[in-house]
Amino acid sequence: MAGRGPWISCSGMSFPATRLRRLRRTGALRGLVRETDLSVDHLVYPLFVTHGQDRREPVASMPGIERLTISHLAEEAGQIAQLGVPAVLLFGIPADKDTAASGAYDDEGIVQLAVRALKQAQPDLTVITDVCLCEYTSHGHCGVVRDDGEVDNDVTLELLAKTAISHAAAGADAVAPSDMMDGRVGAIRAQLDSEGHSEVPILAYSAKFASAFYGPFREAAESTPEFGDRRGYQMDPANGREAVREAKIDVAEGADMVMVKPALPYLDVIRRVREEVDVPVAAYNVSGEYAALKAAAANGWLDERGAVLESLTAIRRAGADVIVTYHAKDVARWLQD
Ligand code: PBG
Repeated sequence: MAGRGPWISCSGMSFPATRLRRLRRTGALRGLVRETDLSVDHLVYPLFVTHGQDRREPVASMPGIERLTISHLAEEAGQIAQLGVPAVLLFGIPADKDTAASGAYDDEGIVQLAVRALKQAQPDLTVITDVCLCEYTSHGHCGVVRDDGEVDNDVTLELLAKTAISHAAAGADAVAPSDMMDGRVGAIRAQLDSEGHSEVPILAYSAKFASAFYGPFREAAESTPEFGDRRGYQMDPANGREAVREAKIDVAEGADMVMVKPALPYLDVIRRVREEVDVPVAAYNVSGEYAALKAAAANGWLDERGAVLESLTAIRRAGADVIVTYHAKDVARWLQD
């Protein structure tokens, strides 16, 4: 009897127990019953494009990530496409910033030029643009700041919609508003439709939390607010119900996809949003998540490949259809091995 059927023996005693290890015995069996797959097809690689000529600037807090000038984009896009990464999320660092964020909606602005360069070099690479004002405002806030220091929601909407339109006109395959103003999805959708860009989808950063994990990004994008913080518009990390509520509102306003950001500290939110909306759900594995793992790996404290693949698989298991991650190129290489 021992070792067979539902009975397990220990110290001469037998007791009923289920044998789960049978299906873990070989790699083939484990593969056969694996519930979640991680493939390069679901990954989006963030790209930082900066002003000036012929520069590749490493971002100190994000080892392996660089800010590129336009002249380096064709080469970079070729490498990304060759690795099979299907999409990039584009951020721009303009030469000049002002209170009206005019570089954001300038048809010859940094992102608009970058979109054209990328689409010319790699027409099949999907280019998603981040729509926000914080990289373009002199104060670093995501919208227009009033005299009393508040970010003016409705005035900001006009500028976000203008920005999205100029990205679409430059050839962006999708626009991704990350500003967290109320009503931005509806405003952008209406403007895109009326300007002849009804085919351009909106990836809404719906549940974007006021997170400490954006620190390295702000170094990369030079977008740290000069005063105050973003808690007046980004979501409180303590809230899950509110995240579901905003995701549903964004879908009602016309979002084609919704995003949860950051990813690893918010797996429960990814799961809840996945269960409550029918559109694809993206998760942004942000700069601080990347930096923390890279730092531990550099110290020999974590095995980078194992930790990255496990983390991204967990984000997929939580319910993300799409993952935006700075690890995308490495993952593509590892999955090819
Ligand atoms: C712009 C924006 C931010 C990120 C993406 N879009 C920074 C912020 O809100 O401060 C963060 C991405 C990352 O940390 O990787 N609003």
